[in-house]
Amino acid sequence: MSIDWFDGKEFTSNFATKRVLIWTPLFQHWADKPIKVLEVGSYEGSSAVFFARFFPNAEITCVDTFWNSYEILFDKNIAEFGDRIEKVKGSGIGALDRFKDERRRFQLIYLDGGKSRDHALGLALLAWPMLASNGIMMWDDYNWGSNAKPEQRPHDGIDAFLALHRGEYRIRYSGAQMIIQKLTRQQLAKAEAQAKTAKVRSSSSRAPANNGQLQLDGSLLAGLRGVWSGSISLSRKAIKRALSSTR
Ligand SMILES: C[S@@+](CC[C@H](N)C(=O)[O-])C[C@H]1O[C@@H](n2cnc3c(N)ncnc32)[C@H](O)[C@@H]1O
Repeated sequence: MSIDWFDGKEFTSNFATKRVLIWTPLFQHWADKPIKVLEVGSYEGSSAVFFARFFPNAEITCVDTFWNSYEILFDKNIAEFGDRIEKVKGSGIGALDRFKDERRRFQLIYLDGGKSRDHALGLALLAWPMLASNGIMMWDDYNWGSNAKPEQRPHDGIDAFLALHRGEYRIRYSGAQMIIQKLTRQQLAKAEAQAKTAKVRSSSSRAPANNGQLQLDGSLLAGLRGVWSGSISLSRKAIKRALSSTR
């Protein structure tokens, strides 16, 4: 019999229910662990309720602008979890910037709010250093909005982040969501050693450097500065490298 993780809760939209089948096998090893979860974009709390019930010993930080009446349902739905759920009202970029200064660490980070291309990249860049070794970071709506303008959907922002940090994670799921797991120090060292060997072997047959460039227009840097709170030093060189890297 399957568990109803949302039993007794009230939602006008339960966004998490369709993700549970993707998540449960990836999270099983943490089920009883006192992990820390960060979520940007909580709406009425369906993903927060799932995390709180699936990880009964976890602490969950939920960041959302809560600009509308959905906050009432969020408060009601998370009330039973008491201080295991920390509610932070405000923009994702602003909150993550503060968490960075507070040197906070999370095992699981879910980015589900602020979905323009530039927001997606900005949030990911801020969140990544706070993700613990072996931690999981995930985005919703990776393939959403194929008819929308590239700057209005998260896809290219997520891809730019993935290109920028290539070699530091492994992809655990790619589809409606993008889910990656940060490599441990040992895994990184092994991957770097393997990459060096592969480079020596393939140096004579390398593909042209501009093969399959990321399709991002030049407004990304300006957009990123627009969503950024300004207190983090952003490496323009690193972003440019990500934008022009091969896939
Ligand atoms: C799709 S809903 C999140 C759904 C939720 N994770 C769930 O599974 O139930 C997106 C949420 O992101 C929030 N949001 C949008 N832009 C944001 C931003 N810049 N900072 C923080 N939250 C934001 C919205 O207010 C909305 O509640």
